[in-house]
Amino acid sequence: MRTQVAIIGGGPSGLLLSQLLHRQGIDTVVLERKTKEYVLGRIRAGVLEAGLVDQMRTAGVSERMEAEGILHRGTVISYGDAQINIDFQAHTSKSVMIYGQTELTRDLYEAREAMSGNLVFGVNKVEIKDADTNAPHVTYEINGSMHRLDCDYIAGCDGFHGVSRQSIPKTVRHEYEKIYPFGWLGVLSETPPVHDELIYASSDLGFALCSMRNAQLSRYYIQCDLSDSPENWPDDVFWDALKRRIPEEHADVLITGPSIEKSIAPLRSFVCEPMQWGRLFLCGDAAHIVPPTGAKGLNTAASDVHYLSQGLVQFYQSGETAAIDAYSAKALERVWKAERFSWWMTSLLHRFPDQNAFDFRMQQAEVAFLRDNPNAQAVFAENYVGLPY
Ligand code: APR
Ligand code: PHB
Repeated sequence: MRTQVAIIGGGPSGLLLSQLLHRQGIDTVVLERKTKEYVLGRIRAGVLEAGLVDQMRTAGVSERMEAEGILHRGTVISYGDAQINIDFQAHTSKSVMIYGQTELTRDLYEAREAMSGNLVFGVNKVEIKDADTNAPHVTYEINGSMHRLDCDYIAGCDGFHGVSRQSIPKTVRHEYEKIYPFGWLGVLSETPPVHDELIYASSDLGFALCSMRNAQLSRYYIQCDLSDSPENWPDDVFWDALKRRIPEEHADVLITGPSIEKSIAPLRSFVCEPMQWGRLFLCGDAAHIVPPTGAKGLNTAASDVHYLSQGLVQFYQSGETAAIDAYSAKALERVWKAERFSWWMTSLLHRFPDQNAFDFRMQQAEVAFLRDNPNAQAVFAENYVGLPY
């Protein structure tokens, strides 16, 4: 088989890239290890930056998002007794869109299928070959038989545990990592959200986040130990812990109900440099991870896809490689800024096991500065709605 761009991974990065390229007449094949049902069964975040909302429009897949997504013009940060309302609209004239990653992925699958996009599921043993030559190709096994896909370029959109990043020689690759000493216990429940904006709360008991998917579906998180397990958190224990970490006015009106999903995720910051090797480009989680505070995971994947799709379109339209040659540098510049914001927000709002009295005072001073300084709130808003592409 031959295609112009071989895409490894059918998560949001791979699908969005495939869809954007298809609309510009560029042929792709998406190779996904799992089934579509498995990919759609994963519960992920749900805050889209304005830039990703625009990309969904450009990709021609925004109809359901526009109808069902909820625009948020601000968010609440609470720290002890301090409550800060950050008004994104006032500071940036932009909002974010609440729309689950699962829904976005579903819309992209539907669009790819409607356009007869070539999606291959259940591929095993994917190997990237000759990415540093002019004749790259990918081999893979499906139902016991081996296949070969020749291409001009390879997009590694296969997430943190994929093969693409590992295919860049160790001598070329530099990896930067920070593991945080806690996790997030997340609960999904068919209850109305406690508030019409997200609440990021920090208390003596640790961090909590009140988020949502829609008017009847809420997503809540609390900071927990890395060694903890969801079985230690029956629903009533979870709700009780959440209530004790969020401002009283919200705790008093929180509607609780049975959880329909409960899981623990570790928090990590990670960046691989470069994001490009020969004709192989990394996008999204394959190249970088952020802790979820700040909701930048999916959004940073989307900015990679933006730069890569623009570079590839330029190449196929004019033969010019300037933009694809600059891909890694351009993508990384924005990635590092999202890493910084996610690390900063994580550091500000969590209780760290080794935090001493000085560190604690620093958090308090930083929160007081944010509360009292409109410029600091503007900086927060600018980062949260998403830096320009
Ligand atoms: N071969 C083929 N497919 C693979 C392989 C492989 N060797 N390894 C992984 N995959 C597939 C996974 O099954 C998954 O469906 O690649 C896909 C990667 O998807 P994600 O992990 O969702 O990563 P990405 O598409 O970059 O999405 C951006 O940012 O912070 C996150 O939650 C956010 O998942 C979102 C991500
Ligand atoms: C979520 O809704 O799952 C969510 C929202 C905001 C975050 C992280 C997760 O920062």
